[in-house]
Amino acid sequence: MSTTSEEQKYTRVAIWLHWLIALLLLSQFAFGWLLEDIPRNTPARGNLVNLHKSAGIVIGVLILLRIVWRLTHRPPALPTSMTRWQQRLAGISHALLYVCMLLMPLSGYLASNFSKHGIKFFNAVKLAPWGSDDKQLYALFNQTHKVTALLLAAFVLLHILAALKHLFVERDQIFSRMWPRAAARP
Ligand code: HEM
Ligand code: HEM
Repeated sequence: MSTTSEEQKYTRVAIWLHWLIALLLLSQFAFGWLLEDIPRNTPARGNLVNLHKSAGIVIGVLILLRIVWRLTHRPPALPTSMTRWQQRLAGISHALLYVCMLLMPLSGYLASNFSKHGIKFFNAVKLAPWGSDDKQLYALFNQTHKVTALLLAAFVLLHILAALKHLFVERDQIFSRMWPRAAARP
């Protein structure tokens, strides 16, 4: 058995979903912010916005899968070297990350369905909007999308700093239990 016992690790599926979604979300952030530089009402922007929407829907499905997995697989208990408030803070920060991860694709999807454009999935399949062309609802969900992007970016930054602190300062097992290399629970 490795230094990180099986009971202290996340399952292999949880680990791969964590890193896959982290990578995709970081690319999707960059994609979203780059979209802002592309002039509106041009064909180039239309194609790119549809790619962003399509990738966002795929990421959203992965996030839903991850949440289902999380609800059906208990994560490993936190080490007793962490104080009660540190454990609570970790729990709250993870819950906030999940809420933002859900809100991001959901707000984008809802906004798209209250606009006449709808979604052209990977610029191939037209998903006609099921809502009306409602400027106010569009603005509400679009604004939620933008504010959540900033909140998620801030929480992810704190999350990365906390993970690095565990790796380099505390030198406990927190990082390795989410790292694919050491033996994971099946
Ligand atoms: C899954 C995670 C997603 C992330 C991380 C993400 C991120 C972003 C970011 C950072 C922006 C730029 C916001 C700003 O200007 O401040 C943006 C814009 C946008 N996103 Fe997303 N997005 C995601 C999913 C989606 C989905 C699923 C849709 C629609 C189906 C969508 C539709 C849009 C649209 C239409 C814009 C342009 C808004 C505008 O310029 O007014 N996004 N996104
Ligand atoms: C978009 C980027 C990311 C998001 C949304 C994210 C989200 C999360 C969430 C929600 C958890 C809690 C898992 C659970 O118990 O259900 C978690 C755990 C973890 N994440 Fe991330 N993460 C991201 C990127 C990163 C990065 C870049 C690192 C490393 C520098 C990292 C390191 C960790 C570690 C070590 C854990 C395990 C914490 C523990 O054992 O309690 N994450 N992540």
